[in-house]
Amino acid sequence: MNTRRAFLRFLAASPLYAGLGHLGRSFAQTSGPDSPGPPADVALIARAGDALDVFDFEAVAHRNIPPAHWGYLVSGVDGEDTLRANRDAYSHYQLQARRMVDVSRIDTSLELFGTKFSSPIVLCPLGAQKAFHPEGEIAVAKAAKARGHLQILSTVTSTGVEDVVAARGAPVWFQLYTTSNLDVAAKLVKRAEAAGCPAVAVTVDLPAGRNLETALRFARADTRTCTACHAPTGSAPFSRPMFAQLDTAGLQIASSSLTWDFIKRLRDVTKMKILIKGLESGQDAGLAVAHGADGIVVSNHGGRATDTGRGTLACLPDITAAVRGRVPIILDGGVRRGTDVLKALALGATAVGIGRPYIWGLGAYGQPGVDRVLELLNKELMLAMVGVGARNLQEITRASIVPAA
Ligand SMILES: Cc1cc2nc3c(=O)[nH]c(=O)nc-3n(C[C@H](O)[C@H](O)[C@H](O)COP(=O)(O)O)c2cc1C
Repeated sequence: MNTRRAFLRFLAASPLYAGLGHLGRSFAQTSGPDSPGPPADVALIARAGDALDVFDFEAVAHRNIPPAHWGYLVSGVDGEDTLRANRDAYSHYQLQARRMVDVSRIDTSLELFGTKFSSPIVLCPLGAQKAFHPEGEIAVAKAAKARGHLQILSTVTSTGVEDVVAARGAPVWFQLYTTSNLDVAAKLVKRAEAAGCPAVAVTVDLPAGRNLETALRFARADTRTCTACHAPTGSAPFSRPMFAQLDTAGLQIASSSLTWDFIKRLRDVTKMKILIKGLESGQDAGLAVAHGADGIVVSNHGGRATDTGRGTLACLPDITAAVRGRVPIILDGGVRRGTDVLKALALGATAVGIGRPYIWGLGAYGQPGVDRVLELLNKELMLAMVGVGARNLQEITRASIVPAA
């Protein structure tokens, strides 16, 4: 893989690549992993509306975002095999074209827990979004509002949940890092519930640390004084707004001893729907439902938890088989095209999450960037639906895709 990446870099820098223009850039970036290195040598878009795909924002965001923050965004763990697997999984399926269907009206709307959204594309929880643009989560909330998307807010958001809900103009969902103290978890959840959040996604894929190697390398190359903005090392997550007024002495962001009975304990403190985020196996999905989870988020944290794991799309068939339609399934990881969204829906996902792509939009142009990312992905999804003759999400079925030849 390193050889392949080196070849893509070589290709990107060569006059041949420049001659290929947009096609050349697209080849390098859509067929490979997200590029932690410098963007390819192509003209950067001058405004959000000029973007032709989400990758156009990646290059501008890379220019705008300071190195340490960029490294935090692009990083996988260890050698980043899982990060690459997330993307590669989509190439194992192709769309099955269907013709002579009346596709003059395409409806991408979706209902989740009684709320209607205009699209099955969900904005995943990503921490500390002011690291990428001064308006952070508020800009994202305004774009989500304009386009009618579900936004899930991270525990380590750089803006308090109340302000984000106000900017979204409707409830967002809350993502919970349980911390090592369940009283703290209960307080976080109650604050989110009081702010109007109807659902909480409990992230369970980081029970005991990880190795964000690429992030650490980028941080070394950043000569700015981090303590000018950040609290001292180790306390960073707890200086965020959701931890204000909570006792965080000795606290860890996750509990390494968490087991399935946590769902019941959470149920005792909240009426919110409870989803478990970070599942990759049918066994765990079955256990989550058996223990009362209202939904599953198939995720490997964007390749940021365990390395040499499977791509999330590859995990999906086992999970849909275990869940048997009893609860909604959201899948995230490596989704960069509308066709990716369609493939995940065809394999049984109810909705599909994006992480880095909307942050590329945010880092590049703030709210208009996030807005355009959503517009592009929705347009691509609609074209993919036209291609397979699906007029609404229910008509996207397993027969809409085939294994790649
Ligand atoms: C910079 C960054 C920060 C993230 N922060 C969180 C977080 O606070 N909580 C969480 O549950 N997941 C977090 N995630 C994981 C995302 O919710 C999501 O699972 C992942 O980004 C999807 O993969 P993608 O980036 O390839 O689209 C983060 C991911 C990234 C890249």
